[in-house]
Amino acid sequence: MSILEMVKISQEFGGLRAVDTVSLTVEPQEILGIIGPNGAGKTTLFNIITGIYVPNEGELLFKGSRIDRMPPHHIARLGIGRTFQNIRLFSKLSVLDNVRVGCFGVTRSGFWSGLLGLPRGRREEQQTESRAMELLKMVDLADKRDEYADSLAYGEQRRLEIARALALNPSLLLLDEPGAGMNSGEKEELMVFIRRIRDQLDLTVILVEHDMNLVMNICERIAVLDYGRKIAEGTPAQVKSDERVIQSYLGVGS
Ligand SMILES: Nc1ncnc2c1ncn2[C@@H]1O[C@H](COP(=O)(O)OP(=O)(O)O)[C@@H](O)[C@H]1O
Ligand SMILES: [Mg+2]
Repeated sequence: MSILEMVKISQEFGGLRAVDTVSLTVEPQEILGIIGPNGAGKTTLFNIITGIYVPNEGELLFKGSRIDRMPPHHIARLGIGRTFQNIRLFSKLSVLDNVRVGCFGVTRSGFWSGLLGLPRGRREEQQTESRAMELLKMVDLADKRDEYADSLAYGEQRRLEIARALALNPSLLLLDEPGAGMNSGEKEELMVFIRRIRDQLDLTVILVEHDMNLVMNICERIAVLDYGRKIAEGTPAQVKSDERVIQSYLGVGS
Protein backbone atom coordinates (compact mmCIF):
# COMPACT_ATOMS: atom_id res chain seq x y z
CA MET A 1 0.00 0.00 0.00
CA SER A 2 1.17 3.55 -0.74
CA ILE A 3 2.02 5.51 2.38
CA LEU A 4 0.54 8.71 0.98
CA GLU A 5 -2.00 9.16 -1.75
CA MET A 6 -3.10 12.48 -3.18
CA VAL A 7 -6.11 12.37 -5.43
CA LYS A 8 -6.86 15.42 -7.59
CA ILE A 9 -5.94 17.92 -4.92
CA SER A 10 -6.59 21.60 -5.58
CA GLN A 11 -5.95 24.66 -3.43
CA GLU A 12 -7.13 28.12 -4.35
CA PHE A 13 -6.15 31.46 -2.89
CA GLY A 14 -8.52 34.12 -4.18
CA GLY A 15 -8.61 33.43 -7.87
CA LEU A 16 -5.23 31.70 -7.91
CA ARG A 17 -4.92 27.93 -8.16
CA ALA A 18 -1.74 27.37 -6.15
CA VAL A 19 -2.21 23.61 -6.48
CA ASP A 20 -4.23 22.41 -9.45
CA THR A 21 -5.69 18.87 -9.53
CA VAL A 22 -2.49 17.18 -8.41
CA SER A 23 -2.52 13.41 -7.99
CA LEU A 24 0.54 11.73 -6.59
CA THR A 25 1.33 8.59 -4.65
CA VAL A 26 4.30 8.04 -2.38
CA GLU A 27 5.66 4.59 -1.64
CA PRO A 28 7.03 3.47 1.73
CA GLN A 29 10.71 4.21 2.29
CA GLU A 30 11.27 6.08 -0.92
CA ILE A 31 12.84 9.48 -1.25
CA LEU A 32 10.58 11.45 -3.55
CA GLY A 33 11.73 14.81 -4.88
CA ILE A 34 9.35 17.64 -5.67
CA ILE A 35 10.82 20.29 -7.91
CA GLY A 36 9.51 23.32 -9.72
CA PRO A 37 10.14 27.07 -9.96
CA ASN A 38 9.23 29.53 -7.20
CA GLY A 39 5.47 29.76 -6.82
CA ALA A 40 4.88 26.34 -8.34
CA GLY A 41 2.92 25.20 -5.29
CA LYS A 42 5.48 23.00 -3.51
CA THR A 43 5.15 24.53 -0.05
CA THR A 44 1.37 24.74 -0.44
CA LEU A 45 1.33 21.02 -1.11
CA PHE A 46 3.28 20.43 2.14
CA ASN A 47 0.81 22.69 3.97
CA ILE A 48 -2.05 20.58 2.66
CA ILE A 49 -0.40 17.30 3.64
CA THR A 50 0.25 18.58 7.17
CA GLY A 51 -3.28 19.92 7.64
CA ILE A 52 -2.51 23.63 7.64
CA TYR A 53 -4.86 24.01 4.68
CA VAL A 54 -7.98 22.03 3.88
CA PRO A 55 -7.85 21.59 0.11
CA ASN A 56 -10.73 22.97 -1.97
CA GLU A 57 -10.88 19.74 -3.90
CA GLY A 58 -9.49 16.25 -3.73
CA GLU A 59 -8.66 13.55 -1.24
CA LEU A 60 -5.60 12.89 0.81
CA LEU A 61 -4.93 9.47 2.30
CA PHE A 62 -2.18 8.51 4.73
CA LYS A 63 -1.73 4.76 5.14
CA GLY A 64 -5.13 4.28 3.57
CA SER A 65 -7.10 6.71 5.77
CA ARG A 66 -8.43 10.12 4.87
CA ILE A 67 -6.56 12.94 6.58
CA ASP A 68 -7.59 15.98 4.53
CA ARG A 69 -9.92 17.37 7.18
CA MET A 70 -7.79 16.63 10.20
CA PRO A 71 -6.11 19.38 12.24
CA PRO A 72 -2.29 19.63 12.05
CA HIS A 73 -1.56 18.23 15.54
CA HIS A 74 -3.63 15.16 14.76
CA ILE A 75 -1.80 14.56 11.48
CA ALA A 76 1.55 15.04 13.21
CA ARG A 77 0.61 12.39 15.73
CA LEU A 78 -0.37 9.98 13.00
CA GLY A 79 3.22 10.14 11.79
CA ILE A 80 3.86 13.01 9.39
CA GLY A 81 6.74 15.29 10.39
CA ARG A 82 8.06 18.32 8.56
CA THR A 83 10.59 21.08 8.43
CA PHE A 84 9.94 24.58 7.11
CA GLN A 85 11.40 26.50 4.22
CA ASN A 86 12.36 29.24 6.67
CA ILE A 87 13.96 27.75 9.75
CA ARG A 88 11.56 27.83 12.70
CA LEU A 89 13.47 27.16 15.87
CA PHE A 90 13.10 28.69 19.32
CA SER A 91 16.26 30.75 19.01
CA LYS A 92 16.68 31.40 22.75
CA LEU A 93 15.98 27.87 23.86
CA SER A 94 18.80 25.39 24.05
CA VAL A 95 19.38 22.82 21.37
CA LEU A 96 18.08 20.11 23.71
CA ASP A 97 14.96 22.08 24.62
CA ASN A 98 14.09 22.65 20.98
CA VAL A 99 13.89 18.90 20.49
CA ARG A 100 12.10 18.40 23.82
CA VAL A 101 9.38 20.80 22.74
CA GLY A 102 8.93 18.57 19.71
CA CYS A 103 8.58 15.54 21.98
CA PHE A 104 5.81 16.99 24.14
CA GLY A 105 3.23 16.12 21.53
CA VAL A 106 3.51 12.44 22.45
CA THR A 107 3.62 12.75 26.21
CA ARG A 108 0.60 12.92 28.43
CA SER A 109 1.16 16.30 30.01
CA GLY A 110 1.27 17.91 26.65
CA PHE A 111 3.01 20.78 25.00
CA TRP A 112 1.76 23.65 27.16
CA SER A 113 2.64 22.19 30.50
CA GLY A 114 6.05 21.49 29.06
CA LEU A 115 6.47 25.01 27.84
CA LEU A 116 5.07 26.57 31.02
CA GLY A 117 7.11 24.38 33.30
CA LEU A 118 4.09 22.89 35.05
CA PRO A 119 4.80 19.81 37.11
CA ARG A 120 5.13 16.69 35.07
CA GLY A 121 5.94 13.17 35.99
CA ARG A 122 9.62 12.68 36.70
CA ARG A 123 9.63 9.55 34.66
CA GLU A 124 8.01 11.29 31.75
CA GLU A 125 10.61 14.03 32.02
CA GLN A 126 13.41 11.50 31.85
CA GLN A 127 11.87 9.69 28.92
CA THR A 128 11.54 12.93 27.00
CA GLU A 129 15.11 13.90 27.72
CA SER A 130 16.58 10.58 26.70
CA ARG A 131 14.49 10.53 23.54
CA ALA A 132 15.67 14.06 22.71
CA MET A 133 19.30 13.08 23.33
CA GLU A 134 18.91 10.05 21.11
CA LEU A 135 17.70 12.29 18.30
CA LEU A 136 20.50 14.79 18.88
CA LYS A 137 23.03 11.98 18.56
CA MET A 138 21.42 10.92 15.34
CA VAL A 139 21.89 14.39 13.85
CA ASP A 140 25.39 14.78 15.35
CA LEU A 141 24.45 17.60 17.70
CA ALA A 142 24.67 15.84 21.06
CA ASP A 143 27.73 17.86 22.10
CA LYS A 144 25.84 21.13 21.46
CA ARG A 145 22.89 20.27 23.65
CA ASP A 146 23.22 23.27 25.97
CA GLU A 147 23.91 25.94 23.37
CA TYR A 148 21.29 28.37 22.15
CA ALA A 149 19.72 27.27 18.89
CA ASP A 150 20.66 30.56 17.24
CA SER A 151 24.34 30.09 18.05
CA LEU A 152 24.51 27.07 15.76
CA ALA A 153 25.90 27.22 12.26
CA TYR A 154 23.28 27.29 9.56
CA GLY A 155 23.66 23.68 8.52
CA GLU A 156 23.45 22.63 12.17
CA GLN A 157 20.20 24.56 12.60
CA ARG A 158 18.77 22.67 9.64
CA ARG A 159 19.77 19.37 11.24
CA LEU A 160 18.28 20.49 14.56
CA GLU A 161 14.99 21.20 12.80
CA ILE A 162 15.08 17.70 11.37
CA ALA A 163 15.69 16.27 14.86
CA ARG A 164 12.67 18.16 16.13
CA ALA A 165 10.59 16.92 13.21
CA LEU A 166 11.62 13.37 14.14
CA ALA A 167 10.55 13.78 17.77
CA LEU A 168 7.05 12.43 17.21
CA ASN A 169 8.47 9.38 15.50
CA PRO A 170 7.07 10.05 12.04
CA SER A 171 7.01 7.52 9.24
CA LEU A 172 6.77 10.26 6.64
CA LEU A 173 9.12 13.24 6.72
CA LEU A 174 8.59 16.35 4.59
CA LEU A 175 11.64 18.52 4.03
CA ASP A 176 11.03 21.95 2.48
CA GLU A 177 14.27 23.14 0.92
CA PRO A 178 16.49 21.84 3.73
CA GLY A 179 19.59 22.81 1.79
CA ALA A 180 18.60 26.42 1.16
CA GLY A 181 21.48 28.74 1.98
CA MET A 182 24.07 25.99 2.18
CA ASN A 183 27.17 25.75 0.03
CA SER A 184 27.55 22.72 -2.20
CA GLY A 185 29.76 20.83 0.26
CA GLU A 186 27.24 21.28 3.07
CA LYS A 187 24.44 20.23 0.76
CA GLU A 188 26.31 17.12 -0.22
CA GLU A 189 26.68 16.23 3.47
CA LEU A 190 23.02 16.95 4.07
CA MET A 191 21.97 14.55 1.35
CA VAL A 192 24.15 11.76 2.78
CA PHE A 193 22.57 12.52 6.14
CA ILE A 194 19.01 12.37 4.77
CA ARG A 195 19.73 8.99 3.20
CA ARG A 196 21.21 7.72 6.44
CA ILE A 197 18.20 8.67 8.57
CA ARG A 198 15.86 7.24 5.95
CA ASP A 199 17.69 3.92 6.24
CA GLN A 200 18.05 3.97 10.03
CA LEU A 201 14.45 4.93 10.75
CA ASP A 202 12.70 3.32 7.76
CA LEU A 203 11.42 6.74 6.83
CA THR A 204 9.65 7.87 3.73
CA VAL A 205 10.94 11.27 2.65
CA ILE A 206 9.47 13.95 0.41
CA LEU A 207 12.12 16.49 -0.43
CA VAL A 208 11.68 19.92 -1.99
CA GLU A 209 15.01 21.14 -3.29
CA HIS A 210 16.10 23.52 -6.03
CA ASP A 211 19.52 22.11 -6.79
CA MET A 212 18.86 19.77 -9.69
CA ASN A 213 22.07 17.80 -9.39
CA LEU A 214 21.39 17.12 -5.78
CA VAL A 215 17.79 16.09 -6.33
CA MET A 216 18.83 13.81 -9.16
CA ASN A 217 21.43 12.20 -6.91
CA ILE A 218 19.38 11.49 -3.85
CA CYS A 219 15.82 10.91 -5.08
CA GLU A 220 14.51 7.67 -6.45
CA ARG A 221 11.59 9.45 -8.04
CA ILE A 222 10.79 13.03 -8.88
CA ALA A 223 7.57 14.95 -9.48
CA VAL A 224 7.70 18.29 -11.26
CA LEU A 225 5.24 21.10 -10.51
CA ASP A 226 4.67 24.17 -12.61
CA TYR A 227 1.93 26.74 -11.91
CA GLY A 228 0.33 24.30 -9.49
CA ARG A 229 0.13 21.45 -11.96
CA LYS A 230 2.12 18.27 -12.01
CA ILE A 231 3.78 18.33 -15.41
CA ALA A 232 6.03 15.29 -15.09
CA GLU A 233 6.88 12.40 -12.82
CA GLY A 234 9.41 9.60 -13.01
CA THR A 235 12.97 8.56 -12.34
CA PRO A 236 15.61 11.31 -12.39
CA ALA A 237 16.67 10.20 -15.87
CA GLN A 238 13.10 10.29 -17.16
CA VAL A 239 12.44 13.72 -15.70
CA LYS A 240 15.71 15.12 -16.97
CA SER A 241 14.85 14.18 -20.54
CA ASP A 242 11.18 15.17 -20.36
CA GLU A 243 10.41 17.74 -23.04
CA ARG A 244 7.99 19.76 -20.88
CA VAL A 245 10.43 19.87 -18.01
CA ILE A 246 13.24 21.00 -20.26
CA GLN A 247 11.04 23.77 -21.62
CA SER A 248 9.39 25.07 -18.49
CA TYR A 249 11.90 24.40 -15.76
CA LEU A 250 15.39 23.75 -16.96
CA GLY A 251 15.00 26.53 -19.54
CA VAL A 252 15.76 25.84 -23.15
CA GLY A 253 19.29 26.79 -24.05
CA SER A 254 20.21 28.24 -20.65
N1 LIG B 1 -1.57 31.69 2.19
C1 LIG B 1 -1.53 32.11 0.90
N2 LIG B 1 -2.36 33.09 0.48
C2 LIG B 1 -2.34 33.51 -0.80
N3 LIG B 1 -1.51 33.02 -1.75
C3 LIG B 1 -0.66 32.05 -1.38
C4 LIG B 1 -0.61 31.54 -0.04
N4 LIG B 1 0.33 30.58 0.03
C5 LIG B 1 0.86 30.51 -1.21
N5 LIG B 1 0.27 31.37 -2.05
C6 LIG B 1 0.57 31.53 -3.48
O1 LIG B 1 0.47 30.24 -4.06
C7 LIG B 1 1.48 30.05 -5.03
C8 LIG B 1 2.34 28.85 -4.66
O2 LIG B 1 3.16 29.18 -3.56
P1 LIG B 1 4.12 28.15 -2.84
O3 LIG B 1 3.37 26.92 -2.56
O4 LIG B 1 4.76 28.84 -1.70
O5 LIG B 1 5.17 27.86 -4.00
P2 LIG B 1 6.63 27.19 -3.93
O6 LIG B 1 6.83 26.61 -2.57
O7 LIG B 1 6.63 26.17 -5.02
O8 LIG B 1 7.60 28.30 -4.22
C9 LIG B 1 2.24 31.35 -5.12
O9 LIG B 1 1.72 32.12 -6.17
C10 LIG B 1 1.96 31.99 -3.77
O10 LIG B 1 2.05 33.39 -3.86
MG1 LIG C 1 8.25 26.96 -1.14
